Amino acid sequence: MLLDTYGRVATDLRVSLTDRCNLRCTYCMPEEGLQWLAKPELLTDDEIVRLVGIAVTELGVTEVRFTGGEPLLRPGLTGIVERCAALTPRPRMSLTTNGIGLERTAAALRAAGLDRVNVSLDTLSAETFQRMTRRKRHADVLRGLAAARAAGLTPVKVNAVLMPGLNDQEAPDLLAWALDEGYELRFIEQMPLDPQHGWQRDGMITAGDILASLRARFRLTPEGEDKRGSAPAERWLVDGGPQRVGVIASVTRPFCRTCNRTRLTADGQVRTCLFAEEESDLRGALRAGGTDAEVAELWRKAMWGKKAGAGIDDPSFVQPQRPMSAIGG
Ligand code: GTP
Ligand code: 5AD
Ligand code: SF4
Repeated sequence: MLLDTYGRVATDLRVSLTDRCNLRCTYCMPEEGLQWLAKPELLTDDEIVRLVGIAVTELGVTEVRFTGGEPLLRPGLTGIVERCAALTPRPRMSLTTNGIGLERTAAALRAAGLDRVNVSLDTLSAETFQRMTRRKRHADVLRGLAAARAAGLTPVKVNAVLMPGLNDQEAPDLLAWALDEGYELRFIEQMPLDPQHGWQRDGMITAGDILASLRARFRLTPEGEDKRGSAPAERWLVDGGPQRVGVIASVTRPFCRTCNRTRLTADGQVRTCLFAEEESDLRGALRAGGTDAEVAELWRKAMWGKKAGAGIDDPSFVQPQRPMSAIGG
């Protein structure tokens, strides 16, 4: 079991498969990209499957999410999913992606055992998409979403970050579109995880702002805390339901007290939190010939050191050195 000193148990593992991405969202990466990890630094497919195996069989992990960077850029993704699906007990598996390439891979991923996907899409306008991501790939994302739905990778969730002056007027239109398409939309407060360290509390669109703009067009009723569990998203029924909209308010309404997460970076470091200051080197332990039991013990020790929370709103908050794309969203 992955227990910490606050009594939380991590059952949800997020695995970053690469730090690279084919978009350049302004809140995430500079135009020129970042200093990518070199190939030998990345965990191999075998190492990933072994670590997921240790997490599932020895440490009580039941949910595995593959993230990035952009996880569809990892050539071995389908094979990794297939091998993880063969573990006992079989973990539930999901993917967080920008959707580019999903059109080609959705059916194979489903067949390999992937349960569902979350796709990032911040705007319905191809022009705004290009301004926000610096790439002309809006249509690819829409096709990827449709392919995921057709392949049964459901519920398909859509993640949108609202940025002032870019897409902050779009929340109701995005929701009307998602309801129509049958996707579950979630709005995400922007967190201080940009490589430029340019995030400012005052410049951020808050959960309060988002809900106010949605309420101008929709009737929202809270789904209730009892249904939320450890999920980052608070959900509302839209116009009486059954469809919902979510808000992930990491900054103004942090959910750290119920956090059930542990993370593995693409270079094999355990991070107990998105905002952790320390990492534990599981890759080193694997490559030094460590046994499953030794690696599991290292992972347990790391989780025991998990801090209470991110404290983004605290005056003493320090942004982590690694940006979001290197930590794994
Ligand atoms: P579901 O299981 O489908 O609800 O997934 P999720 O919302 O946990 O995952 P997803 O990858 O779609 O992430 C949505 C947003 O939540 C992203 O901005 C993540 O960075 C953020 N997020 C995910 N996990 C955490 C977390 O543990 N803490 C914080 N503060 N944000 C998180
Ligand atoms: N704050 C909040 N969400 C972010 N994402 C990327 N960077 C940030 C940030 N700084 C979102 C992406 C994607 C998800 C994995 O995280 O848009 O939907
Ligand atoms: Fe968990 Fe850290 Fe996210 Fe809080 S910020 S919910 S502690 S991973």
